[in-house]
Amino acid sequence: MTTEGLIIDGTRTKASDGGTFEVLDPSTGRPLAQVAKATREDVNRAVQSARAALESKAWGGIAPAERGRMLFRIAQTIRERAEELAELESRDNGKPLRQARTDVQVAARYFEFFAGAADKIMGNTIPLGPGFLDYTVREPIGVSAQIIPWNYPIQIGARGIAPALAAGCTVVLKPAEDAPMTALRLGEIALGCGVPPGVVNVIPGMGPEAGAALASHPDINQLTFTGSVEVGILVAKAAADNIVPVVMELGGKSPNVVFADADLDITIPGVANAIFQNAGQTCSAGSRLLVERKAHDAVVERLAERARSMRIGPGVSDPDLGPIISKKQLETIERYVRIGASEGAAVVAGGARPSDPSLAGGFFFTPTLLDRVTPDMRVAREEIFGPVLAITTFDDVEEAAALANRSDYGLVAGVWTRDINKALSLASRIKTGQVYVNTYGAGGGVELPFGGYKKSGYGREKGLESLLSYTQVKNVCVKYM
Ligand code: NAI
Ligand code: MG
Repeated sequence: MTTEGLIIDGTRTKASDGGTFEVLDPSTGRPLAQVAKATREDVNRAVQSARAALESKAWGGIAPAERGRMLFRIAQTIRERAEELAELESRDNGKPLRQARTDVQVAARYFEFFAGAADKIMGNTIPLGPGFLDYTVREPIGVSAQIIPWNYPIQIGARGIAPALAAGCTVVLKPAEDAPMTALRLGEIALGCGVPPGVVNVIPGMGPEAGAALASHPDINQLTFTGSVEVGILVAKAAADNIVPVVMELGGKSPNVVFADADLDITIPGVANAIFQNAGQTCSAGSRLLVERKAHDAVVERLAERARSMRIGPGVSDPDLGPIISKKQLETIERYVRIGASEGAAVVAGGARPSDPSLAGGFFFTPTLLDRVTPDMRVAREEIFGPVLAITTFDDVEEAAALANRSDYGLVAGVWTRDINKALSLASRIKTGQVYVNTYGAGGGVELPFGGYKKSGYGREKGLESLLSYTQVKNVCVKYM
C-alpha cells in the first residue's frame, strides 16, 4: 500500500515527522490506504504557502475571469474522472456507489457555479452628493482554513474550495481522518488544472493535532468548519483569539412534517431518502418525522415496508444502504437505539446490526424506525447520525410548528402537504436555514444558501451567499473639486 502524501505548496510531501495513519474501508473493516499525518509544523508550512500564494503574481495578480477558467477546468476534470472518484468516495466513506456518483457531480457543479461567479463579485457606488465618489470593492478575505468531516468529503471539499478560489482566496483544507481520500484528489486536480502551487493545500491529520493547529493559527484570515457542535465550539474559540471569522455548519435534528393530505407516493420516498441517504450520516438528515395523527398508521406502515426491503451491503456493490463510517459511530448509533427503547420508543423496523454473516466485518446497521417518540426523549433531541428516524404525531398546524421548532438545532425542515396555506404558514414559522415543501434537499442544492439557525451554526455556504464569507468589503471615499 502506498502512502498518500500531504499536498503543500504544490507538491506531495511526507509529514514532517514521517507519521502516517491508516484509513479503513468501512464496508470490510480492512485498511484502504495509508495517509501522511500532518503535524503542527506541516500546518505552519501549509499556511505559509497559502499566504505566499495569496500575494503572488501567479494568483493574486490575475484577472477574476482567469480564476473562473481554472475553476471550470477543475469541474471538467472532475467529470472526466467521475467514475474513479465515485468509487474512491464509496470505498472511503462506505456510501452506495450511486450516491457517491451524485456527490461527484455535485462537486463538479460547485466548481462550475463559482467559475461563473468569479468575475461577478461586484461592489457598489454610494451617493454622497456633489464632490464625492464613494465605491466599495469586495476583496478576497485571504487565507481560508477549512476543516471538513467524513460524511461528504468531495462535496464539502468542493463547497469550500470553489467559492474561496472564485473570490481570490487561498485554502488550507484539513480533511477528516476517517475519509480523507477524495479531498486529496481535489487538491491534485486543482494543481493539474493550472491552479498555482500553494493556492490549495490539503493536509490530512488528526483533529486535536492538525485541526487544532490550523484553527488556532494566527496567520489564517477565515475559517470554515463542518462537524460536531462540540468541536465547533473549540474551533470558534481558537479562531476568536486571533479575531478570525468563522462559518460554522454543525448538523441538526431536522423535521419532516407530514400532513394527512400529503401525496404519500412522493412523501414516503422523500422522507425515507432524507433519513437513509448516506446511512443517516448527513448534517441535514430528516431525522425527525412529525406526522399528523390521522396519517400516522399509513405512513409508518409504508416507511417500515420500505426500510425492511432496503438492500444493505458494501458501498461499491451499490446497495440501498451502506455501512456506518466507523465502529465508534456504529456503537454510538446502537447506544441511541437502546436509549430510545428505554425511554419508551417502539422499534418498528431495524434497530440492530444486520444478521448476514458476509457483512460481519463492516460497520453495518439496519434502517431503523422509532415510533411513539415524545419530544423530550433524547432520540428526539440529539443528533444520532445514523439511519434512525424518530416518529412523533401531531394534531394541527400549531402543534406541528411548535414540535418542529422544539429543537436546539435549526438546519433544514421538510413540509409535505397539498395545502398551500399549511405549507406557507409552516415555511414562515419554522426556524431553520432551509425549508423544503414536497421535496427534501435539491440534488445537492449548490445554488441554494445553506446554513443553520440556533446550534446548527452560522454563516452560509452554497449559493452566491457563500461568497460573503470569502470576501471583505473595502469602502473608498474620494473628494474632488
Ligand atoms: P468532528 O466534529 O470531531 O470532526 C469534524 C472535523 O473536525 C474533522 O476534520 C476532525 O478531524 C476535526 N476535529 C476534531 N477535533 C478537532 C479539534 N479539537 N480541533 C480542530 N478540528 C478538530 O466529528 P466526528 O467526531 O467525526 O463525529 C462526531 C459527531 O459529530 C457525529 O456523530 C455527528 O453527530 C457530528 N457530525 C456532524 C457533521 C455534519 O455534517 N454537520 C459531520 C461529522 C460529524
Ligand atoms: Mg470527533
